[in-house]
Amino acid sequence: MNAQPEPEVQVERDGAVAIVTLNRPRALNALSSTLMKALASALDELEASPDIRAIVLTGGPRAFAAGADISEMKDLASGKAARAALSEHLARWDRVGRLKKPVIAAVAGYALGGGCELALACDLVVAAEDAVFGQPEVQLGVIPGAGGTQRLTRAVGKALAMDMVLTGRRLAAREALERGLVSRVVAPEVLLDEAKRLARRLAELAPLALRAAKLSVAAACDRGLDSGLKAEREAFYGLFDTSDQAEGMRAFVEKRPPVFEGK
Ligand code: HXC
Repeated sequence: MNAQPEPEVQVERDGAVAIVTLNRPRALNALSSTLMKALASALDELEASPDIRAIVLTGGPRAFAAGADISEMKDLASGKAARAALSEHLARWDRVGRLKKPVIAAVAGYALGGGCELALACDLVVAAEDAVFGQPEVQLGVIPGAGGTQRLTRAVGKALAMDMVLTGRRLAAREALERGLVSRVVAPEVLLDEAKRLARRLAELAPLALRAAKLSVAAACDRGLDSGLKAEREAFYGLFDTSDQAEGMRAFVEKRPPVFEGK
């Protein structure tokens, strides 16, 4: 008899803390629509559980997540098709951003593209020393579509956000700490312990005060976020009308450098 495949999103409850683990290691936790759907339903369940007061979202040792699943997007031939196929998918990043309970991203290894955007949608980001953050989408002929241009810019400022989004420059954990993308950096072997310790601390605090605190901090930097996200998404979908998007994504899947022609 075949063993059941392991779930791509695992949930462990430890008292008032839930640990949600992305578990698709062979694809470096590429965020497929199946995986993001499972993540959203796990979060819905935890949000509705009165005994859970804080959530840790983590990946594996090599990757928190290497982005949205490129093989799923590569054949989308127009902005219209991209919108139809991806709008529900993209809304799941916002689901993380709208959680009422505090959520801590515990990031080791790659947090690229949609993976970086997922960490940015969390309230706190604890990074292992080997974590790497980046928005490499231009190399695929598209742009960040799950909040990267908006949340990253709010976190690190225009100069560095431009550099990362336009050139695909990656930030190592220490630089991410200096530039305000993460708030703590720890050794990889204690990453999860540290994130759980922080979550347990949050779980002891007054839930309504925490909720008000996170909404208030978000309000300080989120003015205009909704319209920013909308503008980003329109531009993202529009790039599926270009042949450079098809070339960029196919080149990744075929493991060759892309040749972009500006059309
Ligand atoms: C699909 C992916 C993937 C991804 C990695 N894999 N990232 N599959 N989508 N985003 C797969 C590879 O194809 C490979 O599968 C396996 O994971 C291991 O990856 P390798 O490339 O062999 O590993 P390595 O050489 O160590 O390089 C690691 C890496 C590289 C630097 C992280 O995988 C990489 O550049 N990945 C893509 C990063 C990226 O462009 N992210 C943005 C995606 S767009 P096989 O089967 O060959 O072993 C995006 C838009 C978000 O996120 C908003 C819209 C939804």
